[in-house]
Amino acid sequence: MATDYTQGDRIVRYSPAGSSNSPEVWGLYEPESGSVQYICADPSTRKAALIDVVWDFDPKNAGTAQDSIDHVMRVVEQEGLAPAWILDTHPHADHFMASARLKERTGAPTAIGEKVREIAELWRGYYHMPEAFDPSRDFDRLLADGDTIELGDLQIRVMLSPGHTLGSVSYVCGDAAFVHDTLMHADAGTARADFPGGSAGELWQSIQEILSLPENTRLFVGHDYGTDDRDAPAWEATVAEHLARNPHVKAGTRKEDWIKQRTERDKTLSLPDRMLAALQVNLRGGRLGEAESDGNHYLKIPVNKF
Ligand SMILES: [Fe+2]
Repeated sequence: MATDYTQGDRIVRYSPAGSSNSPEVWGLYEPESGSVQYICADPSTRKAALIDVVWDFDPKNAGTAQDSIDHVMRVVEQEGLAPAWILDTHPHADHFMASARLKERTGAPTAIGEKVREIAELWRGYYHMPEAFDPSRDFDRLLADGDTIELGDLQIRVMLSPGHTLGSVSYVCGDAAFVHDTLMHADAGTARADFPGGSAGELWQSIQEILSLPENTRLFVGHDYGTDDRDAPAWEATVAEHLARNPHVKAGTRKEDWIKQRTERDKTLSLPDRMLAALQVNLRGGRLGEAESDGNHYLKIPVNKF
């Protein structure tokens, strides 16, 4: 049974290991972008993976802060965990990734899916920065579909799950899977597929593969914004719960109907207000570019391109 506690004004939710060879999971809610940051830990060795952690960015003054990182690190310390991996599921459009800062603080290696190289290629064009972004330099590991990495006595399997971006990956560890922006919570539906490089057809296929995991698999999603009926954020549900009640993809849903619904809904959504700032940071592994001669960092924003 998941248990909740608040730390300051932040929600932390603990999900115990469901079986042997499975991790303990803490979800930490980041309210500004509605992101869920995860700590996935091996109960016996206390080795932990930090997944999709946020480096706070306020678009109003282009200011960064480390409150969300501090929050994650407080739980790591309180629980006596030893960070072994810093993982991202994809280059996020709605927040800056914390990976470079977490690496400075913990020494753990950073990793993301290897198709980040293709996403970087795409965005070099959008930003008109032909020399920008070198993911092979800025991440310690670029992971391929089917790769496994060790987390103490547990293993994390990398599962390519494109559609939201062309290179998104899910991380499967025992009975837990971190499925980022594929599904939303079981009462909310699915994630959007209209960002550059996104594809509703691919997202459908990725969701089917996720829902083919064992029915007791705990699925942890990347975002929650509440619903009309629910104020408190929620992010964990089993495969069985999604198949029973996810309003977009429950058992029996037809691919064509979902793609039509998804595509029509995406047309009504505006782009995340941090997107054009975030991609150029995230494709550098959560770093600003070189400082200019005045010592300041600048972001480049294409005008009228989206
Ligand atoms: Fe995303």
